Amino acid sequence: MDWQSKVVMITGASSGIGRGLSTELARRGARVGLVARRLDVLGEIIQKISRDGGEAIALAADVQDTMAMRKASQQLQATFGPIDMLIANAGIGTTTEASNLQPAEVARVFSVNVIGAASSVAAVVPEMIERRRGHLVAISSLAAYRGIPKSAAYGASKAALSCFFESLRLDLQPKGIDVTIIHPGFIKTPLTAGREAKMPFIMELDDAVKKIVGAIERKRKSYAFPWQLASIVRLGMVMPNFLYDRIAARSSFRE
Ligand SMILES: NC(=O)c1ccc[n+]([C@@H]2O[C@H](COP(=O)([O-])OP(=O)(O)OC[C@H]3O[C@@H](n4cnc5c(N)ncnc54)[C@H](OP(=O)(O)O)[C@@H]3O)[C@@H](O)[C@H]2O)c1
Repeated sequence: MDWQSKVVMITGASSGIGRGLSTELARRGARVGLVARRLDVLGEIIQKISRDGGEAIALAADVQDTMAMRKASQQLQATFGPIDMLIANAGIGTTTEASNLQPAEVARVFSVNVIGAASSVAAVVPEMIERRRGHLVAISSLAAYRGIPKSAAYGASKAALSCFFESLRLDLQPKGIDVTIIHPGFIKTPLTAGREAKMPFIMELDDAVKKIVGAIERKRKSYAFPWQLASIVRLGMVMPNFLYDRIAARSSFRE
């Protein structure tokens, strides 16, 4: 992929995967619009990108705010030209206590992880359709595939996100727009930091970023990694429920 000709908008760019993708794509020559709420942190990342010879701008916005996202998209287009790619990465994780279910907490997770991604798409897709080109990338999760303990809100939000983007793919493919859904396992970022639970096959951020960029370059429709955990998850998908429950009930990654 010729990154030097690409304008990319990345949400959740102030931390973890989004930050890693922002610096890596800028290093490869893409001009990048960094979306997150913490403008001061985005400023530091942009300074680093500039020092390394890249080009990026900060777009302070909450992905839940449709108007702010549209404004961010317009600002990016005014600065670098038409947007070629959106990476809808902003997301939050939370522990769901089933015995003390908090609907407001479930709504918050869906609002950022699903509605936020929808607002991000809505902010960039009209011009992509007009140009008959573009690439939408969603950062979902292996947690999208089956229910796991204490993750009801997070897992359901990621299942919704994956289904949402798959549906978009069917609608937008004939209009020349590619859609890639990434399903990562555990990656060392602030989101997973501080958990005491063993997270199997947890990856270093740099390795994960390279895998995500590779999948985007190959225009994969869906990409799940690391292969070891993705294989276990696929096995879980064909397991009968009685067996799945026995194994999955013992696998809490949120302690
Ligand atoms: N780490 C993992 O093991 C893992 C595994 C699978 C999938 N994922 C997914 O990967 C994505 C990134 O995760 P991460 O591990 O990099 O998390 P992280 O380090 O906590 O970063 C989350 C990012 O999302 C942004 N964000 C949160 N709420 C936002 C909002 N309302 N509006 C705009 N930006 C918002 C944060 O920026 P501000 O606070 O500055 O707004 C931050 O930049 C998430 O969707 C997550 O579900 C992560």
